[in-house]
Amino acid sequence: MCGIVGYVGPRPAQEVLVHGLRRLEYRGYDSAGLAVAHNGSVAISKAEGKLDRLLARLEEAPLPGRAGIGHTRWATHGAPSDRNAHPHSDNTGDFVVVHNGIVENFRALRSELEGAGVGFRSETDTEVLAHLLALEYEGDLKEAVRRAVRRASGAYALVAMTSREPGRIVAARMISPLVVGLGEGETFLASDMPAVLDYTREFLIIEDGEIAEVTRDGARIETLEGRPVERRSFTAEWDNESVQKAGFAHFMLKEIHEQPEVIARTLGGRIHGGKALADLSWAEGDPADVQKIWITACGTAYHAGLVGRTMFERLAAVPTEVAYAHELRYSNPLIGDRSLTLAVSQSGETADTLAAAKLARRRGSRLLALTNVVGSSLAREADEVLYTWAGPEISVASTKAYLAMLVGECLLALRLGRSRGVTGPDQERKLVEELHSLSDKAARVLADQDPFRLLAGELAGASSVYYIGRGLDYASAMEGALKLKEISYIHAEAMPAGELKHGTLALVDEGTPVVAVATQQNLYGKLLLSLQEVKARGAMVIAVAYEGDEEIDLVADRVLRVPRTADLLSPILAAVPLQLLAYHTARLLGRDIDQPRNLAKSVTVE
Ligand code: F6R
Repeated sequence: MCGIVGYVGPRPAQEVLVHGLRRLEYRGYDSAGLAVAHNGSVAISKAEGKLDRLLARLEEAPLPGRAGIGHTRWATHGAPSDRNAHPHSDNTGDFVVVHNGIVENFRALRSELEGAGVGFRSETDTEVLAHLLALEYEGDLKEAVRRAVRRASGAYALVAMTSREPGRIVAARMISPLVVGLGEGETFLASDMPAVLDYTREFLIIEDGEIAEVTRDGARIETLEGRPVERRSFTAEWDNESVQKAGFAHFMLKEIHEQPEVIARTLGGRIHGGKALADLSWAEGDPADVQKIWITACGTAYHAGLVGRTMFERLAAVPTEVAYAHELRYSNPLIGDRSLTLAVSQSGETADTLAAAKLARRRGSRLLALTNVVGSSLAREADEVLYTWAGPEISVASTKAYLAMLVGECLLALRLGRSRGVTGPDQERKLVEELHSLSDKAARVLADQDPFRLLAGELAGASSVYYIGRGLDYASAMEGALKLKEISYIHAEAMPAGELKHGTLALVDEGTPVVAVATQQNLYGKLLLSLQEVKARGAMVIAVAYEGDEEIDLVADRVLRVPRTADLLSPILAAVPLQLLAYHTARLLGRDIDQPRNLAKSVTVE
């Protein structure tokens, strides 16, 4: 996803901007560029591809100057190319912009501008903003930005400079995130804090519908209507130490290994006297009388929602529906005021999840956010927030955030179950004890990577891999399949095991890999039947099963073991071997594991 960095201060801007863009590489991008103000003009350098291509250009033609903006682009309108890369400028070259998100009415704006004789050099929606600024400018960049933003609808962040006002950067946030970093005699702007964490840990958040005027002395924030805003700065807890690879070959592997600690962190301080979330304060009193829970999310977070549904239904007896946020927001859902909506999102910035969450709120639902990012848009939108405390997740493929979401959901389900008189103290105590044991159990799965490396050799040549399971094991299968496809690029499909013979069994042939998750004891016998069916067609069966389960050896060619736990919690452990299987397969295939092709860490466009 696109990244933005801005700088005004005494240092060479090029250096700060390039450094910031490096820090944002993990978000995924396909081109990069800088604009730096110097001697009455603003010079631009940009290049398709990774940052090194831009650096090669900057080596030949450096951009001197002490104020500038930088951008990494992830293509939406127009293919990745030099000319579609940001920054974009108007026809005089005096106004330059970088932009994240989408200007929804850009086609109408573009034809209007073309009708007025403006020539376009790119296919991007961003370029209309540069031309609009030039047209609206009457001596004050902030006013021009305000007027341009009023005309451009959509969810985006815009950062602009003009050669006519050197030393000043103006930024507007229309949903897409933006923060200001405060230094001594220097000020930074960024779409994400890690971009500038090496320079400062003091931040101001720009909220939706606000404009910030940035100079080396700090930032002045006001609303789109011109009302000044007093915003208190805060100190970020994360430093860039914690976002380094710490000796692992990839961020993904590092994050997989952090999971035992993450489980403990998510639980940390949230259980008192055997009671989960005893101290969670709900904004409007305990929602014990809630009639329905809606869980909304995308991707891996959606899979966490599938597990959450079973937890809420079993522990709290609340009917629970899980909906992809991009479907929910357009489905006119029957969400009412006796409902609780749980929006699950690692980043807290996923555009669809935010939109679905807002819709639920408009319909009278209470909104609870389960997210990893403090101060994220989702966290700020919600009535209550449960942070996952998984720490920064850099790898595009989500791992530790998923486990933390499952732990968080279990805590919430226990809390609701207690309020509703559904889960008794003994059951709660047992589950809480089991939750506490999961850190060690996950560490046991991580202890020996050899089985995964060996199996990777068998999966790497496959054209399709099928993942099956029943009940909660089906949710784990979905997450396992997503992990494999996104980082290895091998086609992977998950289905409930019972669905196989309704069509997909036709594809199972000699040597077809079938990964089966076999932890749910009430459905175990049924799963074995499905495994016998695929085995009879020659499938190569890889099973994820409990330690001590001997029956599985009769049908599976390979078994990946996880320690026994409560079936309700088994997805927390089953995820680990599935992540490692995907990781080692992708590694054997030489894939770009932390930044898989076509994907971005945080999907802030619809
Ligand atoms: C998969 C993955 C994505 C995200 C999805 C939602 O590994 O990372 O599927 O889970 O884009 O992102 P968040 O959780 O940030 O809302």
